[in-house]
Amino acid sequence: MSKEYFDKARKLLTELESYEIGSAEELEKFRVLYLGSKNTIKNLMVLIKDIDPDQKKEFGLLVNDIKQKAKDRFEREKAGLSSSEEKLDVGDLTRPGEPVELGARHPISIVRKQIIEVFTRIGFTVSEGPEIEDDWHNFGALNIPDDHPARDMQDTFFLEKDPDIVLRTHTSSVQVRVMEMMPPPIRTISPGRVYRNETISARAHCFFHQVEGLFIDKDVSFADLKQTLYYFATEMFGTETKIRLRPSYFPFTEPSGEMDISCLICKGKGCSVCKHSGWVEILGCGMVDPQVLKNCKIDDTKYSGYAFGMGIDRITMLKYRINDIRLFSENDVRFLKQFTALDVS
Ligand code: PHE
Repeated sequence: MSKEYFDKARKLLTELESYEIGSAEELEKFRVLYLGSKNTIKNLMVLIKDIDPDQKKEFGLLVNDIKQKAKDRFEREKAGLSSSEEKLDVGDLTRPGEPVELGARHPISIVRKQIIEVFTRIGFTVSEGPEIEDDWHNFGALNIPDDHPARDMQDTFFLEKDPDIVLRTHTSSVQVRVMEMMPPPIRTISPGRVYRNETISARAHCFFHQVEGLFIDKDVSFADLKQTLYYFATEMFGTETKIRLRPSYFPFTEPSGEMDISCLICKGKGCSVCKHSGWVEILGCGMVDPQVLKNCKIDDTKYSGYAFGMGIDRITMLKYRINDIRLFSENDVRFLKQFTALDVS
């Protein structure tokens, strides 16, 4: 008979020693079960009256030992739980937060956005094309055959030869893609990065950014081009800005021109930025050569158009009086963060 009670007591001991305690709730359950007012150890104590007299003492000691072990285990687990709670300490929740520092938009992005806004207001859409181009889209379709000296005007980075794959030297390649893809009327601008194999200096870089404009419809004339560019110049640089068109040459436009604006810095009086001429050049333009329309399967007897192309880097330098183009790609935060306040939108 007594043996059965001893076994029961020992079983209880193993149970309480292997009882799983991983959380405060489990610890509380343990406490109620083994140390609470109606705990199971007390039930063992009741059995003592039925134990053989010569074994009563031994049984009593065993039950006391179990009670002590339950208490010890409880204290141990309690200490363990509170120290792991300490590890989760999240600190003083009333402490003021650390401010998140906002980055700034790159000056090239600010000006690119402004240019896009000026043209989208008068109905231009925005189109983009690949920076890695084939020979046809960068040169061929634009009237620049293999042996044409115009290829030397734009020092090209070749990725593959025969057939040539190049880093586009201008965004005029996007003009060709748009004309091949959709029928006129076309009224679009294409902003993007372009590459030229030039020696890097304060005024030139091996990559820079352009916005190309293209308008194809019935009866488009040079007067339309001039008016659009005048609108652009006054929106972009202020209502007092004057424009001047000089004849120039591009293989894909005829006639071709270059547009100057009155110097923003000296207002035309003459300074070092405009080399004392009062004018600064900002873009190339012209009427799309009918051969280019034919190359892109557009009926040149029905349609005519104009195109223009400008450098975003150059315009940004003029607008913000930046004297070294290399600053744009050096990622110097002291330079970049100066433009935060300018980007109001
Ligand atoms: N693609 C020319 C350049 O990069 C610019 C240009 C575009 C000129 C469209 C005329 C018409 O220099």
